[in-house]
Amino acid sequence: MPTTLWEYPSQHYDPARTAGRDGVTGSRGPKMQGRSSYTGATPSWIIWQLLQRYTRARDTVLDPMCGSGTTLDVCADLGRIGIGFDLAPSREDIQPADARDLPLADASVDFVFIDPPYSTHVDYSDDPRCIGRLDAGGDDGGKAYYAAMRRVFGQAYRVLRDRRYLAVYVSDSWRKHKGSTGVFMPIGFELFAILREKFKPVDIVCVVRHNKKLDLGNWRKAAEEGNFFLRGFNYLLLFKKQTS
Ligand SMILES: C[S@@+](CC[C@H](N)C(=O)[O-])C[C@H]1O[C@@H](n2cnc3c(N)ncnc32)[C@H](O)[C@@H]1O
Repeated sequence: MPTTLWEYPSQHYDPARTAGRDGVTGSRGPKMQGRSSYTGATPSWIIWQLLQRYTRARDTVLDPMCGSGTTLDVCADLGRIGIGFDLAPSREDIQPADARDLPLADASVDFVFIDPPYSTHVDYSDDPRCIGRLDAGGDDGGKAYYAAMRRVFGQAYRVLRDRRYLAVYVSDSWRKHKGSTGVFMPIGFELFAILREKFKPVDIVCVVRHNKKLDLGNWRKAAEEGNFFLRGFNYLLLFKKQTS
């Protein structure tokens, strides 16, 4: 992917056709990475692209909000060492932890990938600590959501080695609001600003979302009549830890 606009026809890649650039192939090799039935699963080819560019064979890759385990599967395919945490682990190789308090030593990982909840758009678990329960467009102006994400990024910074990279995959959000024109939550911009407090910005990639809602006539009609837009892209915010 040589430009800052990324598009791919499917959620997953075929590992048989995507050997690593450094010639390293992993041990796993099934046809799917993570679980496409998991609501909110990250398209695995995005993580594949990132690991090719920002990591080397046997590097340690952390995903502190690992969901269905997509990052771990891409790591296995590419011969990287994946470490996954989640409040609600969906499989045995994901460890239970709050991303705001990781049981890892300082400067112990070579790359961090995070696909966080984008406000309250998905019900991930009943755990009261789930950041997906915090409303980025709520009456508090999203303060609790952004404060929680600041702590997640603080942990990522702590455990990342110097001169190594972090990628955050995130979308803005828009919600209908009774009696008003709706609430727009510029989550991508807000998280970029928070990340910038510690990390050095590297780039922003725009990832095309094939919004299935567009195929449904009622959503298309609602968007036109209600004068709002359905989300057409996600941000991939790229940062580097650089202490000197
Ligand atoms: C968008 S999903 C991640 C999807 C994942 N990358 C995949 O491909 O399946 C966000 C995840 O964040 C987790 N999460 C929410 N709050 C958390 C917290 N405080 N600590 C750790 N994980 C959290 C949710 O349980 C959910 O699995």
